[in-house]
Amino acid sequence: MKDGPPKMTALIHPERLEKFVNQVVENNPVSVAVLGAQGEPVLTSVPGLLPADELARYHDWVRSCFNQASSDPMLRHPMIPLYAAPLLCQGSPVGLLLVRFRQDPADAETRHQNERGARQIRAHLQDLIAAGYELFNLSSEIVRNYEELALLQDLSVKLSAQSDPLRICEIVTEEVRTVLQARNLSILLTDPKTGDFVSMIAIGRDGRRHRPFRLGSGEGITGRAAETGQPLIVCDVAQDPGFVPVGYPITSLLCVPMTLGRKTMGTINVSDKPDGAEFTTYDLKLVMAIAAEAAVALENARLFVEVKDLFLSTVKSLVMSIDAKDPYTHLHSLRVSEVSAILAEELGLPPSDVEQIKLAALLHDVGKIGVPERVLLKPDKLTRHEWEAMKQHPLLSVQILEQVKQFSHIVKWVRHEHEHYNGTGYPDHLEGDAIPLPSRIISVADAFDAITSDRCYRKGRSEDVAVALLKKDSGIQFDPDVIRAFVSAFEKSRFKGLPE
Ligand SMILES: [Fe+2]
Ligand SMILES: [Fe+2]
Repeated sequence: MKDGPPKMTALIHPERLEKFVNQVVENNPVSVAVLGAQGEPVLTSVPGLLPADELARYHDWVRSCFNQASSDPMLRHPMIPLYAAPLLCQGSPVGLLLVRFRQDPADAETRHQNERGARQIRAHLQDLIAAGYELFNLSSEIVRNYEELALLQDLSVKLSAQSDPLRICEIVTEEVRTVLQARNLSILLTDPKTGDFVSMIAIGRDGRRHRPFRLGSGEGITGRAAETGQPLIVCDVAQDPGFVPVGYPITSLLCVPMTLGRKTMGTINVSDKPDGAEFTTYDLKLVMAIAAEAAVALENARLFVEVKDLFLSTVKSLVMSIDAKDPYTHLHSLRVSEVSAILAEELGLPPSDVEQIKLAALLHDVGKIGVPERVLLKPDKLTRHEWEAMKQHPLLSVQILEQVKQFSHIVKWVRHEHEHYNGTGYPDHLEGDAIPLPSRIISVADAFDAITSDRCYRKGRSEDVAVALLKKDSGIQFDPDVIRAFVSAFEKSRFKGLPE
């Protein structure tokens, strides 16, 4: 919202003003000019006694009228029959009316009549301004509502694709910062385990992040708003016995809970307008609308994570049941999955890729379900024929995974997890970068677990031995970049605590 009264042209439509002035001029031997708040001409009756050059001639007097505008409603020029009166809107000057009479009457009575005439013209104009102001307010409200609607539509689109609560909080923060100027803003989410409120974002007007903080259930103004589900505006938090300091200065606070039904997901907290003004009900309405959108997005994100966790635990139990066929490969896929994720992180891949690689690694040996147990569990060296059967397992994995739409992007990675960097692997003898990076990662993780685990034909070897063996095969069986990432992770002891 703009400060101060609206412009003359926003209060009276120029056409309407012209009509009015023409009527006045038709009925009176006068000329009329209307100036804006800065002295700019808005309308001058033509032909008239107030041509631009005359206005210029009396420029200094006109300017002085502006200075006195609020003290005396009607001023008369000392030399000529020219009257000036301020035009006010809600008590603030929005312009100046100038009425120039044709002749300067000698007698006081006619002069008095002229002045009365000028006052009447001003009174009519004031009525038009008052009506215009009402209309202006109404249209501003409509524009405001429309802007609010557009904002919420935009926000809802931005939030719809989000399943990460932190990202949702970031988007909401940006949105609140766009619509409301404030010194500080924080978004707190409810910790479902403890009921505490944890700050996901606490940010100053300059974009600098504050230290994260946590409030106990029901603690502070936030806790009160969350418990009742009702938003709060506190003009001076120092006067509020429930206020808990959070590490940055706050005087006035607008706290809006993000609720869905009876459930409070968290709160949006906006503190201190930069000009020291109080928060208005309009500010509150806007933040409430944003909070409602945020609550839906947060609940959707929670449901998404819940369904994903359920899906992953189903996949895990399926894979573990396959691994369990062989006591020696018990939890193999789970460990390969963990190690692959660590390697992907070391290589600097984004979290979404890490997650997918972790899933692919978990499923990398799912095809072993189709390899006869006598081959899979054979303690002795495999015959050529048996080895060929064993080498089928990546293709069998592909056949299984292809059935599930959600696995479509990882099928290729699983297919190539037994390719060698120098092209001597199977099933397609791919070489170097032609092997998908996730497959090259899983390959190293798979070998690491195979070397360090007990097998029916030998004891598992130490991690140091495994590192040495893997390094020896860098550039031969394994991608040198992945081996470097592996060594780096090993030196940081990142493989401690894998499932056993
Ligand atoms: Fe395999
Ligand atoms: Fe494997």
